[in-house]
Amino acid sequence: MTSRREMKKISLWGATGSIGRQTLDVAGRLPFLKVTAMTAHRRIDALFGAAEVHKPRVVAVTGMEPDSNWEKRFHRIGTAVRWGKEGLLELAGSDEPDTAVNGLVGRSGLEATWIALHRGTRVALANKEVLVMAGETIMKAARDHGTAVIPVDSEHSAVFQCLQGEDRGQVRRIVLTASGGPFFGRKSEDLESVTVEEALAHPSWKMGQKVTIDSATLMNKGLEIMEARWLFDLPADRIEVAIHPQSIVHSMVEFADGSIKAQMGRPDMRIPIAYALTWPDHAPFDFERLDFTRAMRMDFYPPDEQTFPALRLARRALAMGGTAPAALNGADEEAVALFLQGKIAFTDIYRLIEAVLDQHQPFENPDMDRILEADNRARNLVRQKADTYKRG
Ligand SMILES: NC(=O)c1ccc[n+]([C@@H]2O[C@H](COP(=O)([O-])OP(=O)(O)OC[C@H]3O[C@@H](n4cnc5c(N)ncnc54)[C@H](OP(=O)(O)O)[C@@H]3O)[C@@H](O)[C@H]2O)c1
Repeated sequence: MTSRREMKKISLWGATGSIGRQTLDVAGRLPFLKVTAMTAHRRIDALFGAAEVHKPRVVAVTGMEPDSNWEKRFHRIGTAVRWGKEGLLELAGSDEPDTAVNGLVGRSGLEATWIALHRGTRVALANKEVLVMAGETIMKAARDHGTAVIPVDSEHSAVFQCLQGEDRGQVRRIVLTASGGPFFGRKSEDLESVTVEEALAHPSWKMGQKVTIDSATLMNKGLEIMEARWLFDLPADRIEVAIHPQSIVHSMVEFADGSIKAQMGRPDMRIPIAYALTWPDHAPFDFERLDFTRAMRMDFYPPDEQTFPALRLARRALAMGGTAPAALNGADEEAVALFLQGKIAFTDIYRLIEAVLDQHQPFENPDMDRILEADNRARNLVRQKADTYKRG
């Protein structure tokens, strides 16, 4: 096993995003981590700023046309540039990195993850949609190629940490915690008219827009049930959710004897990111800590599935099996984008996902083409139906 004192090469996909920037912060504090490759979609200025600091050998810019001026600027700091999705896939297929950190959003990280695992590269995965869409196929690829998917999502990192040294056969259930998002305690009728700004105001975590809206609908927790189902090979009925507004307990595992292990800490994504990069070690950091010299509360509530139907929808897609989770994911991504553009109401997100699942005929044991086809179909259906839900 690689000791954390040995130099580790990191390929960072989505370097300009919330996960990407925090990964760079972690890498900047640990001299044995070297970021050798980075990607961004359109924020090339931010990518260039990060490249000036970390001096990667190569970057890929997926959402822009090739630009020779930028190529010259990157060249002057010793960094090569690749363009388009092909650039990302080329980085994913490289044998240089020890670990690829996938901080991409939505389906954009699926094929790159697949390619990296086939190359035998370990993937530190924040991009949960990859496992939602193709969990079985992705985990099999990791096993077949002697490598691993290490969770970055704080809840799954918590479960992963609780499981260290334990016999998986003695796990009774896992409990994923959820902050409840900005609309915790509201009722269905209040949600009809919430604004984009209100939905983006997350109480505990500062994250990218897609995951922030997913947290407000609770679909983020639905996606996390699916992610956990494949990461930990547990049936959905042994994965529960508890609302925990303080976001101190990041998740829990209950064992056969009723004993429960929880992983706790301040809500700081750099901790699970670092653990994914240094596992099985805990690296020394001076991040702010929990202060037990002061009174502190930890509350737990059952989720209100009547008001927030996302967990039911996620469990329904898992039960349908095959391509259904990919259809749910595509529907959610498209519906969230429409909500962010002000084209549909917050609660239309649920209606559109439900409509997609109602129409979906799942294809069993799908290959990558079938998964992408289910995703595309779901997106098209959402766009068509959304016209009938238009606001105002
Ligand atoms: N943020 C968190 O605290 C957190 C916590 C747990 C899990 N996650 C998960 O981690 C993933 C990333 O979340 P995030 O909050 O870091 O997202 P984000 O801030 O929106 O960053 C997304 C990154 O992906 C790039 N990107 C966007 N669209 C792309 C496309 N079509 N093709 C290739 N690259 C694309 C962006 O590049 P540009 O900047 O150039 O647009 C950016 O670097 C999500 O799956 C999320 O659910 C996030």
